Amino acid sequence: MALPGRTALVTGGGSGIGAACARRLAAEGVDVVVLDVRPGAAQEVALRTGGRALVVDLADLAAVDEALRGIEVDIVVNNAGVQHLALLHEFPPAEFTRLLDVMLQAPFRIARAVLPGMYARRWGRFVHITSIRGVLGDVRKGAYVAAKHGVEGLSKTIALEGAAHGVTSNCIAPAWVETPLTHDLAGRQAEIRGTTPREVIEDVMLGGAAIKELIEADEIAALTVHLCSAAARHTTGTSIPVDGGWLAG
Ligand SMILES: NC(=O)c1ccc[n+]([C@@H]2O[C@H](COP(=O)([O-])OP(=O)(O)OC[C@H]3O[C@@H](n4cnc5c(N)ncnc54)[C@H](O)[C@@H]3O)[C@@H](O)[C@H]2O)c1
Repeated sequence: MALPGRTALVTGGGSGIGAACARRLAAEGVDVVVLDVRPGAAQEVALRTGGRALVVDLADLAAVDEALRGIEVDIVVNNAGVQHLALLHEFPPAEFTRLLDVMLQAPFRIARAVLPGMYARRWGRFVHITSIRGVLGDVRKGAYVAAKHGVEGLSKTIALEGAAHGVTSNCIAPAWVETPLTHDLAGRQAEIRGTTPREVIEDVMLGGAAIKELIEADEIAALTVHLCSAAARHTTGTSIPVDGGWLAG
């Protein structure tokens, strides 16, 4: 086991990439706190990983502050994410704010809460699951693109401020991963385009990738564990695409 005795907070740990990260980290000896807005999902993953569930809506920033008061974790996987599809001139401002709160403000609040403890123990790891939309724009995803670009910047600042205290911070920027979110979006895009979810996955989601397959959540989890390991001690302030060659084209 690479990380015995460490504690991790995995946001959105009840599903998809977050659940895979919780499983992989637990297998490396990490005590995992599975944070999710859905109690059943958080509890199920906590049960399977021998960790504990923390039910919080990351859109409620006061609740985030309250839930994290006094918490001590060594590893943060900022993973929870949501999507709203609309052209900017039609984007509901409340939805724009909600996406920014869940995906950018909440990670800041979490960092603010846990950094003092990490500094005191002289060890900490942040892994932010961003997206290729953290480096590229996209239509109908204005809030998501803005939030993911923002987290890429937040991560760099955590890396610079944390360097003297044994804290690293990195982003993993995936293209399309095989998760419930992807299938939900394929369904919604299919309705907009008047086609089938399968065609959206093959023609739209995999259109920009060189490898024409959805990525497995476990591949993201394996890289997350690596970024938390001693082997990645000098990897900080970076963003690593896992994109099937998307950005190479
Ligand atoms: N699936 C992909 O193809 C893909 C690609 C690139 C980046 N990502 C990013 O990876 C992350 C995880 O995506 P996924 O595909 O595993 O999604 P998912 O929908 O399978 O899981 C997301 C989890 O986050 C939780 N969550 C949502 N809103 C929350 C809130 N307000 N408070 C607390 N928890 C909340 C959900 O309940 C769910 O359990 C997201 O940030 C997403 O943007 C996903």
